[in-house]
Amino acid sequence: MKPFSRELFGSRFGVLMALAGSAIGLGNLWRFPYLTAQNGGAAFILIYIVLLLLVSIPTMITEYLIGRRSRTSIILTPNRLGHPKMKFIGIFAIISAICIMGFYNVVGGWTIKYLTSSIMLQFGSDTADYAGQFSEYISSPYMPLIHTFIFTGLIAFISFKGVKKGIEKASKIITPTLFIATVLIAIRAITLPGAYEGLKYLLVPDFSKVSIDTIQNALGQGFFTLGLGAGTILIYGSYTKSDENITNSSISTAALDLFFAIVAGIAIIPAIFAISYANGSTPTLDAGPQLVFVTLPSVFASMPFGDIVAILFFFSLALAALTSAMSIFESITAFIIDVTEKSRDKAVYICYLICLIPATFCSLSQGVMSDVRILGLNIFDLLDMLSANVFMTLASLFLLIFAGWILKKEDIIDELSNHGKATTPMWILSTVYILIKYVAPLGVTAIFTYWLLF
Ligand code: PHE
Repeated sequence: MKPFSRELFGSRFGVLMALAGSAIGLGNLWRFPYLTAQNGGAAFILIYIVLLLLVSIPTMITEYLIGRRSRTSIILTPNRLGHPKMKFIGIFAIISAICIMGFYNVVGGWTIKYLTSSIMLQFGSDTADYAGQFSEYISSPYMPLIHTFIFTGLIAFISFKGVKKGIEKASKIITPTLFIATVLIAIRAITLPGAYEGLKYLLVPDFSKVSIDTIQNALGQGFFTLGLGAGTILIYGSYTKSDENITNSSISTAALDLFFAIVAGIAIIPAIFAISYANGSTPTLDAGPQLVFVTLPSVFASMPFGDIVAILFFFSLALAALTSAMSIFESITAFIIDVTEKSRDKAVYICYLICLIPATFCSLSQGVMSDVRILGLNIFDLLDMLSANVFMTLASLFLLIFAGWILKKEDIIDELSNHGKATTPMWILSTVYILIKYVAPLGVTAIFTYWLLF
């Protein structure tokens, strides 16, 4: 087995941008705004924050600290920490990473297509059939596949350059750019006449819309957006210097991610409302691909300076997808490097091929293979469902049990306190430990059981 030393991130800012880049992704842009608007606005955000503090952040801290302590990828972590029997946790996490890469890279490919279309000013007509164009594009066999290969190729290109010159450098440029672009779109959206109604719909708390489903949605969103249970936080943790404060950087990442999600909501929902009022129609709120590839192009087409907003939006979408996919790609690449001891270059090629297999099926499942259904779902939806609801949840749950019940409390506190050198007060570290040991595993078990039963 390789020694503990490995290439590390160079700066605190770099670590934060890499973690935030991994967290901020399609989940923020196409899921959070919709979930917030549908689940009682600020009431949803409040529940989301409570669950973030009690469950998602402690789970993130767990993955991070285990990664830094073991300085290896998720499959070898239990070995390194003296519990080889727990190896199965890594298997769950790597399966989730491969499943996510299947559908995420396909959507990444779609963002490239929409970015080029927006640059070629193809979203100018508010009467165009954007729904028809989108379904025609995604169901065609070749073009989406080519875009997927290009998108995954971009990630592989960054990954070849390694941790500091590749991942860290790219994150330091991309994550702030993404912020600026989204803030600009939000400013355009709230200055449209009629946007205020949308802003109210998005943000005014309405507790009557809160139900058990709201809680499940809030917790599920927290898990997906922080990317828990796919080995990404763990691998980034393993590249982090030992003087980095794990608790602080986990909280900062979750805060940046939430801030970005709210700004994305402000960029999207008020614009939809404003344009619907202007056209005299009822605003339609879709989630997922429908929202970003069908509703928004027609909203952009009707808005002053819409061409520029469309370019900015698809540029943001592509960048957000890129930094998230990059972290998942790294989880698999590092696993290949650590297990096979191959060079990074070879591991990147292998990872590229591994990612393209499920991605090809996911892409074709939108068209020629749409009849292939497992559990009633096409391959794209199946991998989405399995990763988010089964593999990420179970890997996270086992990581929490591993940290809280199998590793020693002294070791956890030692890692969280940077071997006693960090300034974080002891009561905070003890609270984090209680959350890791009791509260977070219970929360995760509750969502998993609820999902299984309903
Ligand atoms: N957090 C990313 C998003 O919101 C997705 C992701 C999942 C990233 C798993 C890393 C690991 O889109």
